[in-house]
Amino acid sequence: MHLFLKALQGEGFLPLWLLPAFELRDPARRRYEVPLETPRAGARATATLYGLQFSEDPFGIVVYREATGTVLLNTTVAPLLFADQFLQISTSLLSPFITGLGEHLTSLILNTSWTKITLWNRDMAPVRRSRLGFAPEAGAAGASWQCLSSTRPFKVKGSAGRLPAWPVRWYPFMPPYWGLGFHLCRWGYSSTAITREVVVNMTAARFPLDVQWNDLDYMDAKRDFTFNKKTFKDYPDMVRDFHQSGLRYIMIVDPGISSSGPPGTYKPYDDGLKRGVFIRNATGQPLIGKVWPGPTAFPDFTNPETREWWYDMLKEFHDQVPFDGMWIDMNEPSNFVEGSQQGCPSNNLENPPYVPGVFGGRLQAGTICASSQQYLSSHYNLHSLYGLTEAIASHDALVRIRGTRPFVISRSTFAGHGRYAGHWTGDVWSDWEQLYYSIPEVLLFNLFGVPLVGADICGFASDTTEELCVRWTQLGAFYPFMRNHNDHGNRAHSAGETVARPLFLEFPKDPNTWTVDRQLMWGAELLVTPVLEAGQTKVSGYFPAGTWYSLAGDSTIHSKGQWILLSAPLDTINVHVRAGHILPLQEPAFRTAESRKKGMTLIVALTTDGFARGDLFWDDGESLQTFENGDYTQLLFLAAHGAVLSELLRTRGQADGLLLTAVTVLGVTSAPWRVLANGTPVEDFSYRSDTQVLTVPVSLPMWEPFAITWS
Ligand code: GLC
Repeated sequence: MHLFLKALQGEGFLPLWLLPAFELRDPARRRYEVPLETPRAGARATATLYGLQFSEDPFGIVVYREATGTVLLNTTVAPLLFADQFLQISTSLLSPFITGLGEHLTSLILNTSWTKITLWNRDMAPVRRSRLGFAPEAGAAGASWQCLSSTRPFKVKGSAGRLPAWPVRWYPFMPPYWGLGFHLCRWGYSSTAITREVVVNMTAARFPLDVQWNDLDYMDAKRDFTFNKKTFKDYPDMVRDFHQSGLRYIMIVDPGISSSGPPGTYKPYDDGLKRGVFIRNATGQPLIGKVWPGPTAFPDFTNPETREWWYDMLKEFHDQVPFDGMWIDMNEPSNFVEGSQQGCPSNNLENPPYVPGVFGGRLQAGTICASSQQYLSSHYNLHSLYGLTEAIASHDALVRIRGTRPFVISRSTFAGHGRYAGHWTGDVWSDWEQLYYSIPEVLLFNLFGVPLVGADICGFASDTTEELCVRWTQLGAFYPFMRNHNDHGNRAHSAGETVARPLFLEFPKDPNTWTVDRQLMWGAELLVTPVLEAGQTKVSGYFPAGTWYSLAGDSTIHSKGQWILLSAPLDTINVHVRAGHILPLQEPAFRTAESRKKGMTLIVALTTDGFARGDLFWDDGESLQTFENGDYTQLLFLAAHGAVLSELLRTRGQADGLLLTAVTVLGVTSAPWRVLANGTPVEDFSYRSDTQVLTVPVSLPMWEPFAITWS
């Protein structure tokens, strides 16, 4: 049993994170363990921040902070139970500021008054208190739940701590650059003609678009690896035409494989049967459930042969339809009949002594029989890993087929998912409440190490309104997945960090930030304050102490750490740059492939002392392992004493041809009389004393160091 606990320390200031705190094993009997590597310490720490105490009777573990004696974890508060199909471990909570614990429709900070949380992946439209798809507990067998309550039986004094950065450093995969552009999808693009028309309309409306998607509509009888020879007759040509115009293409793939056709009519099933790739029922036959195409069998992605077969099917399809990425859905796995077409046998896996209450007491609801057999173990043990194992198989197949960075978006996830794929938040309602909930969810997934995450912009279910859709699109531009934004300064891959991040990660010492989840930060430097309510043209946002410039450069906030009411007409989303940061931006274009070649500008947000820094990671946007192989350019930007300088930290020519076209300096307190770019006077600089913005048009090679000075 591993315990994965994230808690914000409430009494003092710095948030506390523990991962994984400890492992408990049955010495007499080897039991099922989640087949995933978890980070392990390679050596003993030279200085320990935390101390450990064991209590023998009753057995328990106490973890405390060495410097202060503050108890962080104490499992002696209630009995530890280590029985078959029932594990119980309890601890007192140091603080009511608890975040994490998987994907549920919740605020960023969880409610600690006896909240029950179920961890059992399930196909379900997000409603409050339901479980969607993420089980962060590497180690708990089968269904599990936690109860949070705010009991604090421990004395808590003072505090010390560490910045909350490392638990998310589980190195997520680097998405292709185009994957960060705008994606467009809909269930109901019923033909290639309609799909093509959508693209034409987007271009006519001058709306940026990087990736066009199709839902089930392209399939023949909703079966994977087929396409409708009437409505999607020219499907391969459509995808090639999209490529010609610089667009990328992604289609849905569901795991359920249609099993009802006569033998010899559907290769994925015939071949899968021969190769033994499907999950088996109690009698050793493929378990048959029901999904979109009707009766289906479920591939067992824990079986290496299944991964080979999945690759073969995808390769064959890709040879016809050269798709660029995959949308893997229904992989909780979702099943429209309970358990299987024949129901489920009656045994202890199907009917465990304890079942989380929310399913009406039935583990099989909406999925397959818990006692069905997979290569590695029973489905009971592997259930919540179904999406992860499919994501791994899909990721690996794409690498082999395309030889470039894979792009996979999955509905079901598990701990470690971010190393293989991204996530979208499922069938959200088109309403204001779910617009708000998308922020905590995007922030949480970034903390879970799945930075590539977003919600269906404008909502999925029911009709949206124009106002909601405008507000959702404004916010959606700041979802790492589905954004239509050109900044690339912060990629989570190289440092294993978050892209969209909660304010508390940047301002851990400011308790006011701990609960903020109606705003988000983009990297360390941008603060996004969206409107989340109908009919509003003002929005209140929290600004941690410091200077904040509106991205447009027309206003400055000097905050003491306070709530500020901002004007927010329908055409505006408030984005503020944090003083001390330099932001490389690129001129927008309809495709990221074009914007990548356009000029760069720097936004230099000076502190009151006149300092700022920033950097740029730049690679070809598609090759595998560029970071690991050093195939990238990295630039450092520094501003101080009336100058902005660049330094080339490393390059293999990736930035060659890239021009710096302008530098905008925010917070220049007195009017400069002279501006130099690499020693040459710039005649057409401009300065506004009301906004204190200096704008310097230049044309400088980014692949060489440059210096811009003003005096
Ligand atoms: C599921 C997906 C949704 C998709 C639909 C049809 O409901 O969550 O996004 O459109 O299936 O494939």
